[in-house]
Amino acid sequence: MLASVALLGFSCAASAWAADIDKLVGNCVSCHGKDGASAESDVPNISGLSADYFSGAMKAYKAKERPCVETKVRSGDKKGTKTDMCQLAKDISEADVKLLAKNFSEKKFVRATQKFDGALAKKGKEIHDKKCEKCHSEGATLASDDAGILAGQKMAYLKEQTEFFLAGKRPYAEKKMKEKLESIDKAGIDALVHYYGSIK
Ligand code: HEC
Ligand code: HEC
Repeated sequence: MLASVALLGFSCAASAWAADIDKLVGNCVSCHGKDGASAESDVPNISGLSADYFSGAMKAYKAKERPCVETKVRSGDKKGTKTDMCQLAKDISEADVKLLAKNFSEKKFVRATQKFDGALAKKGKEIHDKKCEKCHSEGATLASDDAGILAGQKMAYLKEQTEFFLAGKRPYAEKKMKEKLESIDKAGIDALVHYYGSIK
């Protein structure tokens, strides 16, 4: 008797959790795409990022420490509605951020297929190996670096974020990155973006 009551309690809790996470994720995928990979050039792919990096990003949006780009919901009931990541993160509890981070981190990062310039990509790789590989290792493919994933990330998004860093709008988690990024000219940054975009 006791065992069956306990079992019932457990299954209720489990299904409530499942409903919640589906609803939470549903909100995100209306822009970020099914499984966190969208066809939208300005919306980053968010599956497969480490849970730590993911939670850190959500915290930064919540505290408005990271710039929030005004954007439109791309699909679903609210399609066309304007919003941004700060507004979206504001009402998500810490517990729900944890659930979301776990959910997306357990999926595979999907590399975007993008148009890139081969010569620029080659130049970008040289710069990356010298200045970025230390923290964004194995060609910026590893979630476990807790530094986002640059390889196969949306090029428009990467360009925008490097501009935010350089303009002092997005804080650096590592001071050393500031030094490295500031040592590269505009053409070099462009080459880096083509390199990351070239990784399939
Ligand atoms: C209306 C469209 C939209 C919705 C809905 C949306 N996002 Fe975003 N998200 C964006 C855009 C655009 C960016 C990049 C621009 C920026 O940083 O403001 C972004 C950036 C992010 C990033 C940063 C990725 C990185 O590499 O640092 C994370 C994490 C993220 N979103 C998670 C979520 C989660 C979780 C949800 C659901 C609760 C969500 N987003 C809902 C549009 C959206
Ligand atoms: C000393 C370590 C370090 C070095 C060197 C470094 N980075 Fe980073 N980078 C990080 C960390 C840590 C983060 C995550 C920041 C955060 O938590 O907001 C990051 C984040 C980023 C992001 C944002 C990713 C996203 O998904 O939004 C970009 C873009 C980036 N780095 C580009 C570069 C480039 C290009 C170089 C080389 C010129 C470089 N970094 C060198 C540590 C480093």
